[in-house]
Amino acid sequence: MSETKNNVSSGFLLGAASSSYQVEGGNIHSDWWQAGEEGKVPKAGQASDYWNRFKTDHELAQRIGLNALRVSIEWSRVESEPGKFDEAAIAHYREVFTDIKNRGMQLFVTLHHFSLPNWAADKGGFFCSAVRDSFEGFSLRMLKEFRDVVDGWVTINEPEVYATMGYALGLWPPFRKNRLSWLRMQRMLGVIHRRVYRAMKSAYPKAVVGIVKNLHYYAPANPKNVFDRFLAQSAHYFGNELGVNSIYRHTDFLGVNYYFSHQLRFPLRGLDIRTNQEPKTDMNWPIYAEGLYKVLASLRRFQLPVYVTENGLADAADSHRKNYIRDHLTAVKKAASEGIDIRGYFYWSLTDNYEWADGFGPRFGLIEIDYETQERKIRESAKVFKEFA
Ligand code: BGC
Repeated sequence: MSETKNNVSSGFLLGAASSSYQVEGGNIHSDWWQAGEEGKVPKAGQASDYWNRFKTDHELAQRIGLNALRVSIEWSRVESEPGKFDEAAIAHYREVFTDIKNRGMQLFVTLHHFSLPNWAADKGGFFCSAVRDSFEGFSLRMLKEFRDVVDGWVTINEPEVYATMGYALGLWPPFRKNRLSWLRMQRMLGVIHRRVYRAMKSAYPKAVVGIVKNLHYYAPANPKNVFDRFLAQSAHYFGNELGVNSIYRHTDFLGVNYYFSHQLRFPLRGLDIRTNQEPKTDMNWPIYAEGLYKVLASLRRFQLPVYVTENGLADAADSHRKNYIRDHLTAVKKAASEGIDIRGYFYWSLTDNYEWADGFGPRFGLIEIDYETQERKIRESAKVFKEFA
């Protein structure tokens, strides 16, 4: 294997992110596919057909002016049966990654982005020690295959979201609603990250390995009210800080996905999470760019390199996206100017895609997809990146 660059560029990364199950299509060996067949979630089908159209999408990314992409590897594709690696799938990912690198873009790759191979889900997912062993094996194999082209690795995407949606709310595979399992899964994902991090670093110390967290901004509804302030601080501690505390010594960088801000009011039968900041996205999420600055600023004490690994909105009419990106990038700049070591920003998402249990309705893409024809069109808002490039 030829040794080329494996260190992330010193320049600021301006990129877009996606995940395999949401864009590739045809991931028939995944637990999400199975859930789609059983009618528990919308079917993903061909999704945005990235499996076949990756070159077109990379070319459009270049045209937008991006210098980095974050993608993921579908574990169920490369290891559709335990211990049996599919050489054709591996060769396919090499083509995808090489194409990104040949276009001069930096490449971040996620190893677990919500979906599991069916066989792993059948064994109990990450609660099963054999599955954890296999995930480590898969990660090491991917490192061995692609360490010459991948600039940054993400072990796990948003452990807290994965645990909450699948184990507390029961909306995603494995559709559990059990608080104990939720807490255990959160803890387990931290353990897995640390283990995979150690294994990857000892196999290849030059690998840049991190984790991606979904961090929210919590504000007191009334900043003068001591109880509101207490609620906001507690939510920040339990929702953001505790998770980062458990991994910051075992990661080369912290990936931050920022979508949400909340105002907390006391008492009102516990938490009153108001989402009354205007405007809102098509999914009714409030837009609050200053919250990204606050979240980044709150990470100062961890002294870690930070990437915003996801930030974006569903906006089919493309009426808020331009300002959204501009404002969030301004928030990033502000945090950077105050000494936070922030090295890149990835918009979510490069193209429209399968938004998990919400199916194909929400439109997050810089590139619009016509799902009938799979035609691509760069949205007007994407031009904003030229201002920052
Ligand atoms: C996830 C993505 C998802 C996005 C928008 C993040 O939580 O990593 O997979 O599509 O948010 O909901």
